Amino acid sequence: MPKTRIKNRVVLITGGMGGLGETISTKMADEGYKVAVTYSPGNTKHNEWLADMKANGYTMLAVPCDVADIASCQAAVASVAAQLGAVDVLVNNAGITRDMTFKKMDKVNWDAVMRTNLDSLFNMTKQVADGMVDRGWGRIINVSSVNGSKGAFGQTNYSAAKAGVHGFSKALALEVAKKGVTVNTISPGYIGTKMVTAIPEDILNTKILPQIPVGRLGKPEEVAGLIIYLASEEAAFLTGANIAINGGQHMQ
Ligand code: CAA
Repeated sequence: MPKTRIKNRVVLITGGMGGLGETISTKMADEGYKVAVTYSPGNTKHNEWLADMKANGYTMLAVPCDVADIASCQAAVASVAAQLGAVDVLVNNAGITRDMTFKKMDKVNWDAVMRTNLDSLFNMTKQVADGMVDRGWGRIINVSSVNGSKGAFGQTNYSAAKAGVHGFSKALALEVAKKGVTVNTISPGYIGTKMVTAIPEDILNTKILPQIPVGRLGKPEEVAGLIIYLASEEAAFLTGANIAINGGQHMQ
């Protein structure tokens, strides 16, 4: 597709300043999208981030948004629509971990992960899906995890939420398939971002890396490339899928 057509398209990436989010944002800007990102209202570094982006040639829009709170999502999407236009591509990327064994897990850490990683899909997608259907074109890309497919030690909350992501994608994909809107899940494995480097080093080296046949962590650019494809015109026939991108760690 000529990049001039992409130029009119607006992508909104939740958690777009984070480890994976930042790379998705810059790579999509390179493709010609108008890029908006959300950042959590407590993040005081957004101006610094925007200035840093600007210095590297990227003009991004950043809006505060607690993805666990529907009113906050409504305000964030309205602000993007007013400044850039209606959202054509939504990347539900924001996510957190609160890793601990089930024995130690309390309701607070269960709820935090479910609200941020799963309720957020309802809260954000609700703001954009009807518009995509009305316009006859849209892409919703939900970032799950290898651990939603295979489970992970210390992640009952995260694995449950990430497994739920794909149920959401499949059901919504059915409802909007005839309207030019695709809904897909991607399930990255262990990517070299802060979320992964925060894992205790011995656990990473002894329990996780040996399970990755490719023999290394994934790169954020590799995940961004997949998202760019899913957002493209050529991916119109691809919907309701869960695409694993995990270096062979878990083959479905
Ligand atoms: N597989 C098997 N056993 C494991 C294990 C694993 N992945 N991780 C820990 N264990 C074992 C330890 O070896 C240890 O065994 P012993 O008692 O026999 O020595 C036992 O579990 C307790 O381990 P810890 O001392 O580390 O216990 P802890 O309570 O301090 O911490 C933990 C437990 C929080 C689960 C910690 O081990 C941890 O952070 N593990 C990594 C969890 C993980 O993989 N998170 C993924 C984050 S990245 C992400 O989520 C992105 C994505 O989508 C892929």
